[in-house]
Amino acid sequence: MDLPMFYSEEEEWKKVMLMYDSALKEVSTKLEILNEEFKLNHQYNPIEHITSRIKSPQSIAKKLHHNGRELTVENIVKYINDVAGIRIICSFTSDIYRIADLIAKQSDVQVLKVKDYIMFPKPNGYTSYHMIISVPIYLSNTMVNVKVEIQIRTIAMDFWASLEHKIYYKFEGNAPETIRKELKECADIVSFLDHKMLALNEEIKIYNHEDELEQYKEILSDSFQNMIKDSYGTVIDDENEETDGQIIKESIRREEEEALLEVAAYVEQQEQGEQQEQEDREEKNKDKNPKKKNNKKSDGKHTKFFRL
Ligand code: GTP
Ligand code: MG
Repeated sequence: MDLPMFYSEEEEWKKVMLMYDSALKEVSTKLEILNEEFKLNHQYNPIEHITSRIKSPQSIAKKLHHNGRELTVENIVKYINDVAGIRIICSFTSDIYRIADLIAKQSDVQVLKVKDYIMFPKPNGYTSYHMIISVPIYLSNTMVNVKVEIQIRTIAMDFWASLEHKIYYKFEGNAPETIRKELKECADIVSFLDHKMLALNEEIKIYNHEDELEQYKEILSDSFQNMIKDSYGTVIDDENEETDGQIIKESIRREEEEALLEVAAYVEQQEQGEQQEQEDREEKNKDKNPKKKNNKKSDGKHTKFFRL
C-alpha cells in the first residue's frame, strides 16, 4: 500500500529554521576568524562582543501582520530579512567600517542591502550600521543562499539603543516630547563620545609610532602568508615528494627547478674560479708553503642545499 503524500508546513518550518540557524553559525565563525586575525596583527579585538538571535515566532507573525501579509513559511522567507540577526559591538567607529568591509569582501558573501545610520542617523538619534547579507548553506542535495541581518555599532551606540528600545516599548511608541528630546540629546553625547574616543585612540597610536610598526608587520606577514598560501591546500606524498592529483602545477615546479639549477651552476662556477685563483696563488708560493689545501670540486650538492 502506498503511503499518502501530504504537505506539512511544520516540517517546512523546521527546515527553514535549520537554514537560518546554520547561516548564523557561518557568519559567527567568519567574524570570530576576522577578530582573531585582527588581534594577532594589531594586539586588540575590534569586536567587543557578538550576539545573535533567531526572531521569535511571535515577532515574525507580528511583522507579517503589520505588513498585511498572510503568515506562511514562504512569506517569512521572502519578506522578513531579519529572521537571523547578528549584532556586532565594536570599540571604535572606525572598526565598524573595517568589519563591514571585511565581511562584504568575502567571495561567498552577497551584500543585499546596507543602511548607514552612522552617516545618516535616524531623526530620533539612532545610529548603527546595518547590512543584509546572504551566505551559502550546503545541504545534502542543494545549496541555498540564506539572509542574515547584521547590525554593527559601538558600545556607546548600543547603550543608547537599548535604553531607547526600553522607552519605546514602555510608551508603546508614543513617548512624551520631553523624553524624546532628552534621548536625542543623549544620542548627540554618544556621537561626541565616540568621536572623542576614536581621536584619543589615534593620538596614542601616533605617540607610540604604532601605525608604522603595524604597517610594517602587516606587510611582512602578508608576504609570508602569500609565500605559503598554496601549501595550506596542498597534499604532498612524503615518499616520493610527488604532489597529490597535480595540485602543485608542473610548470611552477619546472620553473623552480630551473631557477635552482641556475643558482647551483652559478655557485659552482664561482667556486671553480676561486679554486683556480687559489691554485695559482699556491703555485707561486710553492716554496714558502709546500702544503696544498685540499679543495674538493663541487658535486652538485648545492642543488640540494638550495632546495632546503
Ligand atoms: P525592521 O525595523 O526590522 O522592521 O526593518 P527595517 O526595514 O525598518 O530595518 P532597519 O534596518 O531600519 O531596522 C532594523 C533593526 O534595527 C530593528 O529591528 C531594530 O533592531 C534596529 N533599529 C532600527 N531603528 C531603531 C531605533 O530607532 N531604535 C532602536 N533601539 N533600534 C532600532
Ligand atoms: Mg528587526
